[in-house]
Amino acid sequence: GSARRAGAGEPAALPQAKAEAEACRRCGLWAHATQVVFGEGPPRARMMMVGEQPGDREDLAGRPFVGPAGQLLDEEATAAGLDRSTLYVTNAVKHFKFSPRGKRRIHQKPDAGEVTACRWWLDLERDLVRPRLIVAMGATALASLTGTGAGILRRRGTVERLEDGTPVFVTVHPSYILRLPDAAAQTEERRRFRADLAAAHALL
Ligand code: URA
Repeated sequence: GSARRAGAGEPAALPQAKAEAEACRRCGLWAHATQVVFGEGPPRARMMMVGEQPGDREDLAGRPFVGPAGQLLDEEATAAGLDRSTLYVTNAVKHFKFSPRGKRRIHQKPDAGEVTACRWWLDLERDLVRPRLIVAMGATALASLTGTGAGILRRRGTVERLEDGTPVFVTVHPSYILRLPDAAAQTEERRRFRADLAAAHALL
């Protein structure tokens, strides 16, 4: 069509992008998901947090990181001196991928083709928000941003630069912490995640 896209810095640009993403057919995930879950936060946020994909709760709410992983993120961000309302929070993949099991929907990891297809939207969000720092949470976000998620535990806590110079701080995904089987390991990993967020905060 002839509709002009709102440019970077214009307040309408992100809502317009979200509206366009609702009609996305770049991969097949739209067919079974409830709705697209676009990024959310101030259009001029200094920090952009990138996760993997919406979970069950996010798919139903239409908002990123509102389930258990989101609660962990909110708590540890606050403890690290970062107010969630100042962060632009998004995902590498914007539709929920799952397999049905009875009444439950079990999370499935997006494949490389889905991550690559959806990078179009993440790149657009980066262009519009122009964050000073991006935090990659987990291997999928890291792969989408840098080309590979391999060796994430070695890369954790370090900063990598994207082609445009934007620094990417590497950390784990909150769901990784929630999946750890014992309470002591969860407590320790929460402490490390909080320290990562504080280190990222200090880079702003
Ligand atoms: N996990 C993610 O990666 N993103 C969400 O939005 C929720 C859970």
